[in-house]
Amino acid sequence: MENLDVLIPRPQSIVAAPGVVKVESLGSVSTPQGCERFGGELIRNAGVLGLDLTQEGVPVKMILSSEIKVESFEITITPDEVTIAGGDPAGLFYGKGAFEQLLCIAVIKGTRGSEIPCGKVSDSPRFGYRGFMLDSARHIQSVDTVKKVLALMAKLRLNVFHWHLCDSQGFRSESKLFPELNTLAGMTPGYYTAAEIKEICDFAAEHFITVIPEIEMPGHSKGLLALHPELACDPENPGKEFCLAKKEVREFLEKLITEFVGLFPASKIIHLGGDEANTEHWDKCPACQKLMKDKGLSDIRQLENDFMNDMAAFVRSLGVTPVTWFTGSIMEESTIIQVWRSIWELKETLSHGNRMIFSVHDQLYLDYPCTAAEPFENWMPVLCESGVYNTEPFAAWEEEIGDLLLGPETCLWTETVPDHRVMAKLMPRLVAFSETAWCPIAQKDWFSYTKRKDVLTAGGWFEMEAL
Ligand code: ACM
Ligand code: ZN
Repeated sequence: MENLDVLIPRPQSIVAAPGVVKVESLGSVSTPQGCERFGGELIRNAGVLGLDLTQEGVPVKMILSSEIKVESFEITITPDEVTIAGGDPAGLFYGKGAFEQLLCIAVIKGTRGSEIPCGKVSDSPRFGYRGFMLDSARHIQSVDTVKKVLALMAKLRLNVFHWHLCDSQGFRSESKLFPELNTLAGMTPGYYTAAEIKEICDFAAEHFITVIPEIEMPGHSKGLLALHPELACDPENPGKEFCLAKKEVREFLEKLITEFVGLFPASKIIHLGGDEANTEHWDKCPACQKLMKDKGLSDIRQLENDFMNDMAAFVRSLGVTPVTWFTGSIMEESTIIQVWRSIWELKETLSHGNRMIFSVHDQLYLDYPCTAAEPFENWMPVLCESGVYNTEPFAAWEEEIGDLLLGPETCLWTETVPDHRVMAKLMPRLVAFSETAWCPIAQKDWFSYTKRKDVLTAGGWFEMEAL
């Protein structure tokens, strides 16, 4: 290995120093209290590479340091000691992952005589929110696939798993209150039991990934309303949207949300959907029209807005922060808005002061084909790897937006993505996204990225089982 500029995501600082450390001489792994499992993981991953870190050797010391920021790390390599320091357990976990990358590349030609150059790598994320959304409503994925996705996310230091669990085609989280919802077969039948959800959330937590589950309203609810037509404006022709005026709708959704939130005790944020509702049923519904007039509203979209704000307030009453897709509605300021149709939604949301997540579709929707050779819906644009890489989440407005942008999130909708296609859709674009989410602009360079990715691919790093 010639130098330390081989990592993905690319570090903020690399300072070279004279000398090398021989990887076959490494051993004596130590860890701070509470982070013992990282030692076991490093030993196991090094073992996959043919190295024995259980031996007495040049020590690999993992430490926590209050001088390093959260999620950040420093790796110091000298001929007679390697130190991996994290600002917190997440930072130490990422530092360990970065060191595993160095090991992996160092041993490309075999373990004998392989070396890592001395120096210091210091790194810290640009965004605290680095998200990936998986649509499990259209096609459901096996628990194993979801874990594979989470493990890849952790390797790439992505830290938010937005789980789109409910849509017109499926309701994928177990409901004991309304078990009929779990009979929706959509494109594939199935749902996640409470035990499976716990297993996935625990796995995510071990990988320093926060889960944001999503439950959709008032649109995208065709299957649910076919089972509960009384909750639609016209029970004879229920369509996809809940009635905005019926008291039973709010009662039903409040029960459903309460149960849903209970399945995710560690999730302090949940997503309420809110996108792409048609007004057609509301326009014709006497109850919706009456409520709109009683509230002194002039437009049915304002009634939708009112409804979503009430649902968001209910979520807040449970101690959880709501997110909604950008709809043009004005959501109470503590609701987080996910922009998705255009960069202009950033500007519009900025004027209302809400925090934001950046997921503009033609830059970050991974259901779009990566090359024109891939089969796709004819309305979809091609979204190639460099398109994802070159996405700038602030668009042109970093100064004005500042901390209101939590970070970017890339999304995989699965209308045309059955379980077995998920990893193929993520690779290599999720890798490109990791630098969009983690690296300051100054560190990003497409040509450097492709070279580093090629080396890591040749080294087998992407196939290595992440722990
Ligand atoms: C969306 O793509 N409907 C949020
Ligand atoms: Zn109605």
